[in-house]
Amino acid sequence: MGITIAIDGPSGSGKSTVSREVARRNKLAYLDTGAMYRAATWWVQEQGVDLQDEVAVVETVKLLPLIVPIDPDDQTHICNGEDISAIIRSPELSAVVSIVSSYFPVRDILIEMQRNIIQSELTLDSFSSGRGIVTEGRDITTVVNPDADVRVLLIASEEARLRRRATELSGKADEETLNKTRDIVSGRDRIDSAVTKFMTASDGVVTIDSSDMTIEEVVAAVEERMERVQ
Ligand code: DC
Repeated sequence: MGITIAIDGPSGSGKSTVSREVARRNKLAYLDTGAMYRAATWWVQEQGVDLQDEVAVVETVKLLPLIVPIDPDDQTHICNGEDISAIIRSPELSAVVSIVSSYFPVRDILIEMQRNIIQSELTLDSFSSGRGIVTEGRDITTVVNPDADVRVLLIASEEARLRRRATELSGKADEETLNKTRDIVSGRDRIDSAVTKFMTASDGVVTIDSSDMTIEEVVAAVEERMERVQ
C-alpha cells in the first residue's frame, strides 16, 4: 500500500516547494489542491459567469474540464484545451480565488475529485506505481485525507511568509514590495481561514514552523515522519 502525505498551511509557508520536493525525492505523485481552486476560478470567469452568483458558479464548476497534473516535475495545468499554468498564478486571479473557494458546494466537488486522485495513486496502475502521493492545501489533513499516513501543518511567522511571497512575486523583498504584499497575503488568509481552519493543527497533525528553517530542513523533517510510518 502506498503512502499518503497531507500538508496544509497558509500562503508563504513554503508548502508547495516542500511538498513538490518530498514527492520528487520519493518518487511519489504530487497534488496541488490550491491550483485546482485557481483553475476552477479561471474556468468560471472564462465562461463569463459572475463570481458572486453562487448557484451559477457551482453549476459551472460541475463541468470543470481540468486535467489535473500529478507529476511534481510537470505541473502544466490544461483546462478546456488551454494551458492555464501561468494565468492561474496571476495577481488578478489570486485576488478573486477566495470567492470561489468559499462556496461549500464548490469545495464538495473539488474535494471529491481530490479524493479520487489520491485513491487512484495508491494502485499499481498509476503515475507513482502505487508508491503514494503528497497532497497539499488548506483542508487536506482535516477534510480531504484525514487518514493520511503523515499529516503536517506547515506554518511560518507573518514576516517570513511576507518575505517569501514578495520575493516570489517581485523577485525582491524591499520595504515597498513588502507593504504591497502584506495587503494581498493577509487579506486572502483572513478570507480563507473563515472557511478552512488551517492555522491550528487538529489532533494527530504535526506542526512544523518553517520561519527559521531552510527548505532542505523542512523536507528532512517530513521525510523523518515518513520513515516512522513505513
Ligand atoms: O495555495 P494557493 O494559494 O494556491 O490556494 C489558492 C486558493 O485556494 C486560496 O485562496 C485558498 C484556497 N484553497 C482552499 O480553500 N482549500 C485548499 N485545499 C487549497 C486552496
